[in-house]
This record gives sequence, structure tokens and C-alpha cells, in this order.
Amino acid sequence: MNLENCHNFHDFRLLAKKRLPSPIFNYIDGAAEDERTYKRNTASFDTVDLVPNVLNGTEEIDMSVEVMGQKLKMPIYCSPTALQRLFHFQGEEGVAEVASQFGTLFGVSSLGTTSLVSLREKYKTPQCYQFYFHKDRGLNRSMMESAKDAGIDVMMLTVDTITGGNRERDLRTGFSIPLKLNPRGVLDFIIKPSWGINFVTKGKFTLPQLDDFVDMSKGSISIGKYFTEMLDHTLNWNDVEEMVKFWDGQFCLKGVMSVEDARKAVDIGCTGIVISNHGGRQLDGSRSPFDQLSEIVDAVGDKIDVLMDSGIQRGTHVIKALSLGAKAVGGGRFYLYALAAAGKNGVRRALNLMQTEIERDMRLMGVKNISELSRSNLRFR
Ligand SMILES: Cc1cc2nc3c(=O)[nH]c(=O)nc-3n(C[C@H](O)[C@H](O)[C@H](O)COP(=O)(O)O)c2cc1C
Repeated sequence: MNLENCHNFHDFRLLAKKRLPSPIFNYIDGAAEDERTYKRNTASFDTVDLVPNVLNGTEEIDMSVEVMGQKLKMPIYCSPTALQRLFHFQGEEGVAEVASQFGTLFGVSSLGTTSLVSLREKYKTPQCYQFYFHKDRGLNRSMMESAKDAGIDVMMLTVDTITGGNRERDLRTGFSIPLKLNPRGVLDFIIKPSWGINFVTKGKFTLPQLDDFVDMSKGSISIGKYFTEMLDHTLNWNDVEEMVKFWDGQFCLKGVMSVEDARKAVDIGCTGIVISNHGGRQLDGSRSPFDQLSEIVDAVGDKIDVLMDSGIQRGTHVIKALSLGAKAVGGGRFYLYALAAAGKNGVRRALNLMQTEIERDMRLMGVKNISELSRSNLRFR
């Protein structure tokens, strides 16, 4: 199997599985506990059918959207994900380049392996900074100031990681940063030597968003320790309200699931929320964002931009979420498997396939632009 044979999400996943040592593949592919939420995220789209209108003469298709003041040429963006250079040596750089070619938003994780400032300087497409809140308030402020000075468009605070999810596949393989593999894990690295050669020869693995502020060198602090020791587990709405004021720009909460929290996000001045369960990687048993979408849109959709992520694999998933009232959707694994499979060429193919699917689906639905999508296109089973 190679890139030309990848025609959908599942094909990219299989190629990624072939290329990556299994501990790394399972870090991307896995989720929390019994992975029920992970499975439901995609299955929830099957509870709704699309009802197309025909003979609408859809020659020109415009799939652009505007969210949190950013114009996106397509309604799906690349959600922030950690450690991308571990999946392919081109990492965030490759993802940013492709997102920029497609004119869409990309997120850079606090645990990103490329500097968000260097990406900002190189690529002009909208960029968001996925932020974790530290105990040290001074540190939070300096990090935000540097991001603001660099011209980051959107601050995205992740709020569903107050503690780490119980990802049992990682426990079995021994995946952690720094890597502490069990013998089976070591063997997996040995039998996939090309990954190891690229990893060692194509630049040093660093976490630049943290390196400037936290001593992550020589394994003195692991990511696990970073989460337990440096992040503030008492984070509350007052802290975030202060942060929103300090940032004084587009500010979004990622990981909101309840109507009550969506209302609070409006009250403290956020401009966006991402309904998300972190791709099923945190609270297993949590509801899927698509199942929860209409409730939240009905409550706050006229006051704040409502986005969603988790489970999106197809153009029709995007169409269903937008018909229900999301302003845009994010995807993680849909571009990560492609990155792992073939670097930026893979990501380009994944975004291209997604764009082609959305365009074809819009034609088949009989709509020329996104604003024509509505709940009248949908029937719940
Ligand atoms: C390997 C991996 C790493 C991730 N790292 C982060 C992260 O650092 N910060 C964050 O807020 N979300 C992170 N996420 C969650 C994504 O931003 C997004 O919410 C999720 O992938 C959406 O689900 P999907 O993969 O089904 O599209 C990560 C997801 C994956 C798969």
C-alpha cells in the first residue's frame, strides 16, 4: 500500500500503521479506557440522514466560512495535536504548509514540536495556540504575551485535560515522553528502522513552546510530570475570565460539553467554543460532540461561534455538523494518520480528499454555499 492507494481516512490509518512503530501508532489511534466514546464519536453521525434537494443548478461551490474573525476557505481545520515530529519528521511544519495552501486554520499544541512563532512567521493562514494553564500565573502571562507579539490569531484553551485520560494502550506499550518502552515496544522500533533513522537524522526533537519557559532538557521533566506538577488543577471560571481579558482578542475554549458551560463561556467574554471530548482520549463514557451539538447551538449559537471536533472522517460528517449549526469543525486523526503515512504529501492528499468530498456532497445536496445548509436537510432516524 502507498499514498496513491489512500482514498479515505481508513486507508491513511492503515498506511500509518504500516509505517509507525506500534507504540507511536497506538498513541495516535488509541483513546481512553474501553474506547466507547471514541467509537461513538463517529457512529453518532449515522443517527442522522441527509435529505438532498435536486435541480438547484450548483455550478459555483463556495465552502468558505468565517469563525472567530478568521476567514477559512474550507469549513474543516486541523485541530491542535501534540508531538507531531514523532509521527513524521516534517511534523507541524508540514501540517502548517498544507493548511496554508488550503487556506484553513491550524492549531499548534503547547506540546508541539515546532515553534509556533516560526510557523507564524512563515505561514499567513489563521493559526491558533492551544494553551494549557500553569500554576505559575506569571508563566501563563509571559507565554500569552509572546504569542500575542508573534501575531497568533486565536487563543484556544483546552479545558478537558484537568487530569490525563486513562489511555490503556499507552500503558501496555510503555509510551511516554521521554520514551520508556517495554521489550515488545523496543522490538517494534527495531523492525521499523526507517522511522528511527529519520527521527535521529532529521533534526532534534524538542518542545519549543515549553523549552523557553520550562527545563525539559535531559529528560529532567517528563510530559507526565509536566501535567501533574506544572499545570493548575484548580483552574476555574474566574481564572479563565482573567485570561480572556489579558489576551484581549479571539479566545476559545476547547472541550466544552454542557449547555451550562457554554453559557458561562459567553458570560466571561469568549468568542468561540469547541464542543469536543478530545477525540475520546479523556473521559470514556462522555457524550459525543455531534450528539450534543444541537442543544448547545440552540442555547448559545447566536452569541458565540460554536465549533466541534471528534470523530470526523468524511465530508458528509462535516455537512451534517454544519447543517445542525456548527460554524466549522476540527479534525485530529484525519490529518495525523496522513502525516504519519507520508508527511506533508499525505496531509495534502487528506485535505484534498476532504475538500473534494465536501464539494461533491454540497453539489449532491443542492447547496452552493455553507449558509444554505440547515436542519431542514437532516432527518434523525
Ligand atoms: C495524537 C493526538 C494528540 C493530541 N494532542 C492534543 C493536544 O496537545 N492538545 C489538545 O488540546 N488536543 C489534543 N488532541 C485532541 C485534538 O485536538 C482533537 O480534539 C481530537 O483529535 C479530535 O478527534 P479526532 O481525532 O477524532 O478528529 C490530540 C489528539 C490526538 C489524536
